[in-house]
Amino acid sequence: MKKNENYESLTRTFSRLSKFAHLSAIAGWDMFAMMPPGGSTARGEALAELGVLQHQILTDKRVGEWLQSAESEDLNDVEQANLREMTRHYQQAALLPESLVEAKSLAGSKCEHAWRSQRPANDWLGFSANLKEVVKLSRQEAHIRAEAKGCSPYDALLDIFEPDMTSARLDVLFADLKSWLPDLLVKVVDKQSREHLIAPQGPFPTATQRELGLEAMTLLGFDFNAGRLDVSAHPFCGGVPEDVRITTRYDENELLSALFGVVHETGHARYEQNLPRQWLGQPVALARSTAIHESQSLFFEMQLGRSDAFLKQLLPAIVQHFGPQPAFEESNFIAWNQRVKPGFIRVDADEVSYPAHVILRYEIERALIDGDIEVDDIPALWNEKMQSWLGLSTEGNYQNGCMQDIHWTDGGFGYFPSYTLGAMYAAQLFQAARTALPGLDNAVANGDFSALFDWLRQNIWQHGSRFSTSQLIEQATGEALNSRYFRDHLTKRYL
Ligand code: CO
Repeated sequence: MKKNENYESLTRTFSRLSKFAHLSAIAGWDMFAMMPPGGSTARGEALAELGVLQHQILTDKRVGEWLQSAESEDLNDVEQANLREMTRHYQQAALLPESLVEAKSLAGSKCEHAWRSQRPANDWLGFSANLKEVVKLSRQEAHIRAEAKGCSPYDALLDIFEPDMTSARLDVLFADLKSWLPDLLVKVVDKQSREHLIAPQGPFPTATQRELGLEAMTLLGFDFNAGRLDVSAHPFCGGVPEDVRITTRYDENELLSALFGVVHETGHARYEQNLPRQWLGQPVALARSTAIHESQSLFFEMQLGRSDAFLKQLLPAIVQHFGPQPAFEESNFIAWNQRVKPGFIRVDADEVSYPAHVILRYEIERALIDGDIEVDDIPALWNEKMQSWLGLSTEGNYQNGCMQDIHWTDGGFGYFPSYTLGAMYAAQLFQAARTALPGLDNAVANGDFSALFDWLRQNIWQHGSRFSTSQLIEQATGEALNSRYFRDHLTKRYL
């Protein structure tokens, strides 16, 4: 018998799977960024067929046997971490009966497809009928996963996106945010209500906005030899580490949303582009979790991108491209980019009011999956929580309330907490970098981000999934995740 025979069989299988995942990612990017509408049915079918093939390879009973036998083989630290991640992927895929996977996928596509027209029509009744089916199947999935893992149904879904996180821990973290954030928000809004700001005046031609976006990506170290910027209706970061595809969308009347969208996706992209090369194709080389991924994009967009220092560096390029105007006076431009304005829509929210949107969704989706509430209860709960957090009523306004997000339409329960966890991780990481690198603030003010990016590469990017999220954060920052740094950051920037 060869050395580590079972482990070697596994690495060959996962390497093969990663090649199919590569093609699926690039075809998926093409579907959203390039494909003419007439191609959509055939592409959907082709991707589904590829998905079935990947699922068959991954859940082959030999994979289960290899995983068990490999446990007693002589593996080094990285190989053991890889085996742990392989086991995770296998269990996630193999636990569910194929009939449930198929039913969930069908109900999800139906609900999502109809939602695209039901949302603008404010059609809650039509939408909720489809959502009930999605929730029913997601509950079945959650129960099967919970039984295997020995946890609550919601925690079993959370684990798909955030291994190492539980609702008990989230409750503590979010209770802490709830104890100071509403008050901070009121103070910031009050302070800013006395400022009179000038809005940038368009039009801002798309081609010029694209040029500016590319310049920002260059400034932020994006590797154009291993990635591209394109356009899609909903911005995303896709592709594979060797070929990262990011997208944005342009509005000629609005300059900053596309630009900061690009800065955000560049944070995701740099994480992908700097994942450990030597293990590429293996699960251990993948990004750690959705919250850690989001921490990198928010590190770029919020910690760095909306800082005074970075905005000052961006401004000359903006004036060069679009000419001077009163809104581009430095202090106005900075204040404009740091406005706090509670509103209905999560994706438009500033970083001070964003956690309210996330915690509200977390509380509702957890109760929904654990069976404490039903779909019909959602609008009233949404309204009640929006009223108490942000003072806004969503009564009868479903399209800007509980129908605004795509996540629940295809059963993506357990994802929302990642956004606020990401913001908290980002603040904690930035402070740790500042402590480790005494000249950092000066360097950043002079447009030199190299030390900062080296720090991220060494502490986050190059580790892939080698460590658990808790280990990764403790090694990088010296302590477990807590909200202190996020609070300090918001207080310092906005009060
Ligand atoms: Co993101």
